[in-house]
Amino acid sequence: MEQPPTPLPFPADFAWGVSTAAYQIEGAAAEDGRGPSIWDTFSHTPGRVRHGDTGDVATDHYHRLDEDLDLLADLGAQVYRFSFSWSRVLPTGRGDVNEKGLEFYDRLIDGLLTRGIRPIPTLYHWDLPQALEEEGGWESRSTVDAFAEYATLMGARYGDRVSMWTTINEPWVLTYLGYAIGAHAPGKSDTTAAARVHHNILLAHAAGAAALRATVTDASIGIALNMSEIYPALDTPASTEAAGIAFDQLVTSYLSPLTGGAYPTNLMGYSALWAEGAGIVAPGDLAAIAAERPDWLSINEYHPRYVVAPEDLSTARLEGWVGEPGTPFTIGQPFIDVTRGSAPKTVMGWIIEPHGLRDILVRISRQHPDLPLYISENGYAGADFLDQSGAAKDPERIEYLRGHIAAAGQAIADGVDLRGYFLWSFLDNFEWAEGYLPRFGIVYVDYPTGLRTPKSSFDWYRGVIASKAVGRGDN
Ligand code: NOJ
Repeated sequence: MEQPPTPLPFPADFAWGVSTAAYQIEGAAAEDGRGPSIWDTFSHTPGRVRHGDTGDVATDHYHRLDEDLDLLADLGAQVYRFSFSWSRVLPTGRGDVNEKGLEFYDRLIDGLLTRGIRPIPTLYHWDLPQALEEEGGWESRSTVDAFAEYATLMGARYGDRVSMWTTINEPWVLTYLGYAIGAHAPGKSDTTAAARVHHNILLAHAAGAAALRATVTDASIGIALNMSEIYPALDTPASTEAAGIAFDQLVTSYLSPLTGGAYPTNLMGYSALWAEGAGIVAPGDLAAIAAERPDWLSINEYHPRYVVAPEDLSTARLEGWVGEPGTPFTIGQPFIDVTRGSAPKTVMGWIIEPHGLRDILVRISRQHPDLPLYISENGYAGADFLDQSGAAKDPERIEYLRGHIAAAGQAIADGVDLRGYFLWSFLDNFEWAEGYLPRFGIVYVDYPTGLRTPKSSFDWYRGVIASKAVGRGDN
């Protein structure tokens, strides 16, 4: 694991925080008027989620709000990034408002503010109201209108207390896993649907940003994109080109329209569908997206990727790379994801290479020097447990975080305008299709009882926040 040669101090106004998302922690899925979302439906469909786990109870955050707020304060968190559950406040996605749902978020936001913690809510972290799904969901443009209605409601209610808003979390994941390969809700495998949703999600970002800018006086709007630096595993022209295509699929196809550009034209299966006249992109759409450029960009980063061109796969295998054509990331695309068989990995199977974080930050900052950046997610999945003394010791997570926070500091030293780091995650939680098996939290959650136990990484991160540095003393 890389270590910085000297302690890396972060700017005094650098924002340190933690991240969560509604469906992953709240529970209370059918309480106080909440309507179902596509994740309720998906997780209750046999075979979709490991062990048949659901978010019905999750960490029971809905009922343990005060205790969790106290833990955030104990950590010294300056920022809490969380998401609103759309169907808790608008049970059928539009129309009738559920006042009890709004009151829950009043309590959350007020509880943060009284503890001196800045709330940064996300409007959409994958939990589309089921009622909207039944009307066509994200494949239908009417969902974009419903999203604008929801954004207006939330802006009007909380805009006096919240200025930084994230519209959408990880459009690539929700589009690609949800509609191209069916691993996430709503579980479809249809390239045309994926291309349509990809576009409608960007329209929703723009419509949501416009609604917030109209209702919140000092609105500052971001979007959270999942990113990885993507390296060619072999130094050949074909694999270098493949890495470029993979990056365009993962990042450029979102970031370019969001910042005033067009869709890439090199993505097999997708680019033709985004051509004007092909029925998805209407005249004026790209201008509408560009008009609501984000004020800042959030990056969720966990690991870099390595790819090869299909014709280089056998050579790569001889050199110790492991990979199969047609793995989920690559279906229908001219690149293949590979890893070193011996590379250290988290329980998600993700390689641990902190330099990937520095490299992606530098790359995006060079492309968009005027966009302030935040790391809105980064963290380590383990198989943590309570030992006989009741402690949750997670030295591997500390090691991961130390390397990645140091890489973020190095990016700042490289000139990147990086404003904050929000660790994923505050609590162990429902890891989507993987259920409760991977534990990402710095607080251990005993699911049968709900008991919270801060892990050793919690104390370590508290030290980082207090000293604004890694590589110093115990940090
Ligand atoms: C991305 C998502 O935003 C979050 O919901 C998920 O739990 C983490 N990454 C880890 O996979």
